[in-house]
Amino acid sequence: MTPAQKNALLDSLALPVLAAPMFIVSGPELVIAQCKAGIVGSFPALNARPAAALDEWLTQIETELVAERKLHPTRKIAPYAVNQIVHSSNARLEEDMATCVAHRVPIVITSLRAPDEVVKHVHGYGGVVFHDVISVRHAQRALEAGVDGLILVCAGAGGHAGTLSPFALVPEVRRFFDGPIMLSGAIASGSSILAAQAAGADLAYMGTRFIATREARAQAEYKDMLVEASAADIVYTSLFTGVHGNYIKQSIVRAGLDPDNLPVGDKRTMNFGSGDITEAKAWRDIWGAGQGIGQISNVPSTAELVSQLASEYHAARSRLSLLQA
Ligand SMILES: Cc1cc2nc3c(=O)[nH]c(=O)nc-3n(C[C@H](O)[C@H](O)[C@H](O)COP(=O)(O)O)c2cc1C
Repeated sequence: MTPAQKNALLDSLALPVLAAPMFIVSGPELVIAQCKAGIVGSFPALNARPAAALDEWLTQIETELVAERKLHPTRKIAPYAVNQIVHSSNARLEEDMATCVAHRVPIVITSLRAPDEVVKHVHGYGGVVFHDVISVRHAQRALEAGVDGLILVCAGAGGHAGTLSPFALVPEVRRFFDGPIMLSGAIASGSSILAAQAAGADLAYMGTRFIATREARAQAEYKDMLVEASAADIVYTSLFTGVHGNYIKQSIVRAGLDPDNLPVGDKRTMNFGSGDITEAKAWRDIWGAGQGIGQISNVPSTAELVSQLASEYHAARSRLSLLQA
């Protein structure tokens, strides 16, 4: 990604945020609302079921964003992103990538394995690839694969998450990479978005906070749990997918398990299959969330949430400039 491309991306946003893709939760309604509000919206390709639905989702997103740009030519309307799980058990990867290439998806977010093949396809039509990593070793491997940007998934992030503090990982990665860095892990307020930039990231990467919005495809009970629970209720376990991730304790208890005595998961059991929801028990019954959960107190529309985050962000900037004066 050239510095000009990076600047064009940042200039297209009303707030430096990429709304993270979330299994089951992110659908076209959420993505469209996020982009219209001026932040990058995204969803995992596997959420569109069956695979043929991906083409329909992309057409719907593009049509609505083109119409919005026509209607409000001076407003910041962000590009969208599609997440691809690069894993041998993802039987749809090739077909989903062909659909993304046909639509020239502007940003592809890859997770798990280094995305060599995906990078080739996306660069072929001028798109960019951001890869999520939890360590310096994974960051270096992704850069060797030719990715354009790195998503640093730090401690406290929802879903599969790392254990490193952002104050450790961002500076270590910045030593060898000056391209776009997205930072994630419990970012749920405007002041934390500013903190991500202060730490050296370009964009905040936010998932959990957007589950508690009207457009998110999460049951009402899940949204209520997000409002009620706090950081101490987040359990970090490998049981459900074989990879360590953060989940809400109350949903583990409701499923009849003891959150304080969970067995260790088996990596070999991780199976993305055809993306069939019945294969996704972990995400359907055991609800993922990051440590930012304690900052969630309402379930607004996405537009209202982004506007609230923007006010908090600008208030935090003013506070800091007063401190410096
Ligand atoms: C319920 C849930 C589902 C998720 N599903 C995916 C996914 O399918 N693909 C992916 O790359 N990341 C997934 N993530 C991780 C997010 O993309 C992101 O890294 C994380 O939400 C950021 O941390 P935060 O939730 O503390 O903001 C998921 C997170 C949650 C909470």
